[in-house]
Amino acid sequence: MTTPKLVGQTAWISGATKGIGEGAALLFAREGAAVALIGRDENDGSRVLRAIQQTGGRAIFIRCDVTREEEVSASIQQTVDAFGGLQILVNNAGIVDVRMLHDYTVELWDHVMDVNVKSMFLAFKHAFPHLRKNRRSYVVNVGSISSFVGQCGTPVYTASKGAVLQLSRSIALDYARYGIRCNCVCPGITDTPMLRRHLNAMPDPEAHLAGRLNRVPLNEVLTPEVVAKSILYLCCEDSAGITGTSLTVDAGYLAAAEWNCQALVR
Ligand SMILES: NC(=O)c1ccc[n+]([C@@H]2O[C@H](COP(=O)([O-])OP(=O)(O)OC[C@H]3O[C@@H](n4cnc5c(N)ncnc54)[C@H](O)[C@@H]3O)[C@@H](O)[C@H]2O)c1
Repeated sequence: MTTPKLVGQTAWISGATKGIGEGAALLFAREGAAVALIGRDENDGSRVLRAIQQTGGRAIFIRCDVTREEEVSASIQQTVDAFGGLQILVNNAGIVDVRMLHDYTVELWDHVMDVNVKSMFLAFKHAFPHLRKNRRSYVVNVGSISSFVGQCGTPVYTASKGAVLQLSRSIALDYARYGIRCNCVCPGITDTPMLRRHLNAMPDPEAHLAGRLNRVPLNEVLTPEVVAKSILYLCCEDSAGITGTSLTVDAGYLAAAEWNCQALVR
């Protein structure tokens, strides 16, 4: 049996009640971390909490809107009060909004940017006094393949995910002296409620998905568990020496300048 990787660590994970965040919460708890499940939905929060507790893991659910500074600050204090410290911050919560840029209002623009980017500033700001107390602490911000490339019909999401990558690099630079490593995990097409909502905004969701998968070399939709493994990697000493970088988990999507390649190997 392998040694669990996160024994003695406490992790604050936003958007931990669904999708990739839920996958990370379950994996981190299995690896021995005490996990603060940060989210807005009590029912989903209780479900993930029960799943962790039933397998002997430690967790608490904290209701928190990550765009609200007082709630973020309180959630971090509650985490530290419950578990005695904080070593790992996973800024995963995010939203996607499908519409053309000229159809945006200022309020909608602000909302997407607040959930996807401002939340990361708020969480880091309030976690820092605790993270700096450790010999080593870890921050993972969840970006996207759209941290690197444009995607149709999601201009503000794409802008926000570009900002997530740059913010991650800045945190890595400025806080390395405090023993904090910060990296960005950039998923491709992952089977979560967000993906389903995004697809359902299209006239033919399944055809749209098939079209997108057509240009993915591994031709597969990722699972939250697969993405969670990369988040875990960057939150422990398996990734010692790595900071200020991004890890794309995209089944090859960004590698492809061409697709439908004719096989040359026979
Ligand atoms: N699913 C994909 O294909 C995909 C691809 C690339 C990047 N991502 C990124 O991965 C991250 C997780 O996405 P997912 O697919 O699991 O999404 P999801 O919608 O399935 O889950 C997101 C979680 O964030 C929470 N959340 C949203 N707004 C919040 C707020 N204001 N306060 C607190 N919690 C809030 C939701 O309640 C939910 O629990 C996001 O940052 C997303 O942009 C997803």
